Amino acid sequence: MDFKSSTVYQIYIKSFCDSDGDGIGDLNGIRSKLPYLKSLGVDLIWVTPFFPSPMVDNGYDVADYRGVNPQFGTMEECEAMIAEAEALGMGFMFDMVFNHTSDEHEWFRKALTGDPEYMDYYIFRDGKDGQAPTDWTCSFGGPAWEYVPSLGKWYLHLFDPKQPDLNWENPRVREELKEIIRFWKGKGVRGFRFDVLNLISKPAEFTGGGPGHRYCRDGRHVHEFIREMVTDTGIESLVTVGEMASTNIKDCIRYSAPENHELSMCFNFHHLKVDYKDNNKWTLMAPDYEMLRTLFRDWQEEMASHGGWNAVFWCNHDQPRVVSRFGDEGKYHDRSAKMLGTFVHLLRGTPYIFQGEEIGMTNAHFHSIEEYRDVECLNYYKILLDGGSTKEEALEVLANRARDNGRTPMQWDGTPNAGFTTGTPWIGVTDNYRTINVEAAEADPESILHYYRRLIRLRKEYDVISEGDIRFLDTGIPHVLAYERIFEGRTLTVVCNFGSEREVIDIPELAERMENGSVLISSTGREIPSSGLEPYEGTAYII
Ligand code: GLC
Repeated sequence: MDFKSSTVYQIYIKSFCDSDGDGIGDLNGIRSKLPYLKSLGVDLIWVTPFFPSPMVDNGYDVADYRGVNPQFGTMEECEAMIAEAEALGMGFMFDMVFNHTSDEHEWFRKALTGDPEYMDYYIFRDGKDGQAPTDWTCSFGGPAWEYVPSLGKWYLHLFDPKQPDLNWENPRVREELKEIIRFWKGKGVRGFRFDVLNLISKPAEFTGGGPGHRYCRDGRHVHEFIREMVTDTGIESLVTVGEMASTNIKDCIRYSAPENHELSMCFNFHHLKVDYKDNNKWTLMAPDYEMLRTLFRDWQEEMASHGGWNAVFWCNHDQPRVVSRFGDEGKYHDRSAKMLGTFVHLLRGTPYIFQGEEIGMTNAHFHSIEEYRDVECLNYYKILLDGGSTKEEALEVLANRARDNGRTPMQWDGTPNAGFTTGTPWIGVTDNYRTINVEAAEADPESILHYYRRLIRLRKEYDVISEGDIRFLDTGIPHVLAYERIFEGRTLTVVCNFGSEREVIDIPELAERMENGSVLISSTGREIPSSGLEPYEGTAYII
């Protein structure tokens, strides 16, 4: 599949569509919405883990990589889902969580009995003076090592204690994981998303303190491990994306440049930290648009000049909703959502749409801690309170940063529970579902949904979008971002105002293009070229 002209849609299964009224989304729910996805024009569907799991991290703690969690359905339903998508010309990407398993996986259970073969599937170490081997912290708050009294050893978990890290140095582990890929490949999936893949290769020595992932990212053997996994399983012809935590451009070029035989593309998250104060997710700050521009410029231009390929996106199940974050939920809701879509979909890379983004779903608007579900934010709520924040302050941080903001039920229509379930949803529905929902968006020709359809189509129609080179342009205004795409004599210029004021571009080279180019698509619906930009205007000009 040509992933350069493709668009991927991400489904967070638990919150997408519930077919049986238990309040939890499921495979049959996804099946019922395939025609909707087809009508959007997407090519690939990434579905988050639906494998048997104790669900401590909503399925990113896998207990059996070859099964289907009964909460979500059966293997027959899974196979039918793949076949039905294929019949509609779409393919699935399944989510492989290979940095760690659940502590309920049989490998870990065997390890806990002291079986040396299986202990070597994980990272067990002796303590130091009765303490953990290092002072590393895990990503969900608290230490990264857990003590097992019966073994007298500590095991590493970069995430929750119930997510022990696998030992990729052990060739048997790598073989086991390849078998899992072959299993799902055999079921006909078109690709894979690999969870936190750049953390798999751990350092030779365990020392130091602070966030454990800092010692593991883009580790010493990561490229050879990935290449071996990809070539041995024959998935180079499929679409593969690695989730790369705190990575760098150089490694992402290696991960994704075709001659290295690793992956089709990489996710990185630097652009989603421009509103973290002191790089701390749990400290609020207004977005730094200069930084946003610099990050996009560097990643886009450098990946392009070395043949790397980015997955481009604003939203996923770990992020707050972009319209609430870099747009305007209120007065400029529609327009800012369209501007943000324009910016990302016309970049060089493969765009990913997270369920609900295409209708401008917002943050959750939860007001009490009881409404939250995610292990990470429940832990950090306590950490914030222990650190001296008041409840109100801590809730304000969560309202902006909690992963649950992206996990509220998909808003299908204006009926109770937004048409997501006939039962009680596992997490509350966002209060605005009566106005922000798919049914209403379908009926309005000017909706965000129809605009996303056009963006997806444009990538297929214009080589300059799928294939073109990229260069960022100076606009003279920090929150107005602009870039050009160039391919075979054609130039596309994209100018996006991330601010709520009208702006006029007075950089002559750019102003001239805006005055003379023809408008390909615009978040304001404008048709007449001009160097003036309305609030949250995102317009693409073609010459
Ligand atoms: C990835 C997933 C996230 C999960 C974590 C641990 O970042 O996207 O949801 O919690 O890995 O598996």
